[in-house]
Amino acid sequence: MKTLLISSSLFGAGGQSTALAQELASRLGGEVIVRDVTTVPHLDAGRFAAFNTPAATRTPAQQAAVEYSDALIAELKAADTIVIGVPMYNFGIPSTLKAYFDHVARAGITFKYTEKGAVGLLTGKKAYLVMARGGFYGDAHAHTTYVRDFLAFLGITDVESVYAEGLAISPAAKEQGLARARAQVEDLTLNQREAALI
Ligand SMILES: Cc1cc2nc3c(=O)[nH]c(=O)nc-3n(C[C@H](O)[C@H](O)[C@H](O)COP(=O)(O)O)c2cc1C
Repeated sequence: MKTLLISSSLFGAGGQSTALAQELASRLGGEVIVRDVTTVPHLDAGRFAAFNTPAATRTPAQQAAVEYSDALIAELKAADTIVIGVPMYNFGIPSTLKAYFDHVARAGITFKYTEKGAVGLLTGKKAYLVMARGGFYGDAHAHTTYVRDFLAFLGITDVESVYAEGLAISPAAKEQGLARARAQVEDLTLNQREAALI
């Protein structure tokens, strides 16, 4: 099994979402490929135009932009399982994680338009989201539903979530939030390993 571990905390390895996502990925077993998205550039007009320019007429800069996106997509396609560390910053996901999503959502490659609407092309994968938050928002907040909607758009609908909440409330709340999240990681990975044995 190949797992793609996507981290997006601006604190790098010191981020709570990163540490928990790492723990989850390593408990799943198999090969783990790490992708830190904190340096992914914003999708600007030039990059988007490059995606829509035929290979034969691309400038070298456009070719480089397409190859960068292609490499991120190849990594995602090759993974059976995706674990994403998702900090909450100002009520949403990190802008660099959004930039990563903007680089892997490519018409005709990761999704396609049909008469019945958009269809995701990355089917058959499982994803785990590790949400880290200063406060308490639960699973109905857009911080979670947006990521689930995006993954579903690409065809990834088997999604489990872990919540590390209350991390900014007090030291005791933080400890409790992290302990709860670790217990969720244990439960989920135990279930996954048991399912793999059946
Ligand atoms: C710039 C910034 C903005 C934040 N905004 C929110 C917020 O809107 N709501 C919230 O509950 N926590 C907020 N927090 C707290 C983070 O969610 C918390 O520190 C969490 O641990 C971040 O995940 P990380 O440690 O993986 O980076 C914010 C933290 C930072 C640094």
